[in-house]
Amino acid sequence: MIERSGGTEYGIDWDQRDDLDLEDRLTDTGYLPEDQAVENPLRPRTFSEYIGQDKVKENLKIYIEAAKSRKESLDHVLLYGPPGLGKTTLAGIVANELGVNLRITSGPAIEKPGDLAALLTNLNSGDVLFIDEVHRLPRTVEEILYPAMEDFALDIITGKGQMAASYHLPLPRFTLVGATTRAGQLSAPLRDRFGVVLRLELYSPQELGKIVTRSAQILRADIDADAALEIASRSRGTPRIANRLLKRVRDFAEVMSGGRITLNTAKIALDRMEIDELGLDASDRSMLTAIIQNYGGGPVGLETLAAAIGEEAVTIEDVNEPYLMQIGFLSRTPRGRCATASAYLHLGFPVPGKLREEQLKLEEE
Ligand code: ADE
Repeated sequence: MIERSGGTEYGIDWDQRDDLDLEDRLTDTGYLPEDQAVENPLRPRTFSEYIGQDKVKENLKIYIEAAKSRKESLDHVLLYGPPGLGKTTLAGIVANELGVNLRITSGPAIEKPGDLAALLTNLNSGDVLFIDEVHRLPRTVEEILYPAMEDFALDIITGKGQMAASYHLPLPRFTLVGATTRAGQLSAPLRDRFGVVLRLELYSPQELGKIVTRSAQILRADIDADAALEIASRSRGTPRIANRLLKRVRDFAEVMSGGRITLNTAKIALDRMEIDELGLDASDRSMLTAIIQNYGGGPVGLETLAAAIGEEAVTIEDVNEPYLMQIGFLSRTPRGRCATASAYLHLGFPVPGKLREEQLKLEEE
């Protein structure tokens, strides 16, 4: 059973997600309203339905089986990696496979120690508490989370001076699944309290192709294998984007060609959405173009670049950069961001001599 905390969808206060570019950007890895429903039928509910992240899956399966056979709660789990890769989905699967309830909230939604106390005291033994963006928990909340994670107890002090009183409240044993896009921003004491730390990777086009095919089946959309792969290869390694593009391509197919998603309709639809063959959207192209045209290919500092293209620095770091680095279009040096020869070529700029030599050296190696 899935419960939401507070009145907000998913227990997440969407207004506070200032790390997300909430414009309707199709390749945005942040949640959009249509992705939010916990009952989203596209979300796999068991490990057998979950495609990709094989290492994470295999390890989690073992930890779950061991915890179940010892009749203990699963140790706390930290999932980290770029947005849209299925951290919430995995938390749901963990709860499902353990046969316990899942409670979903987020770091910024827990404003005061009392909010956390209310969540924790309402858990049943063994339940999973999922905290998205766990790096954004307020410090005062983090401090009462430590004993809760370690000793399954809350130590709360109320009042001041002579009116002060301290309470020691035992809690049911629970599993905290924390998710973050930025493990580096987690405080060391919090990070150290997770017994299991797992990093999610961007998906390969083949894995995303399987996800698109599965999602199309659930949505009862007819799709050709090459069309699924086309959507997959333009989804920048991210299932959330793949599923969103699938829905939009299906719209084009329904209106333009009687419903069947063929390679040709997929290509036309994706081109119309200005998502290129590698999955870059207008924002990626504008970022690389700025590095090349305004800063001679780099290095340029993150904040300078963010100001130049009118984007939040965190959005650039979390959303644009992981994929651009993965496909070898961007390098991060101590002095700033640089566009690579491949980026110049893809955007149709002449490759500067200096970069051409580096590229040749790389190819020789
Ligand atoms: N939908 C979103 N992520 C998925 C995954 N990893 N496997 C299957 N379907 C998905």
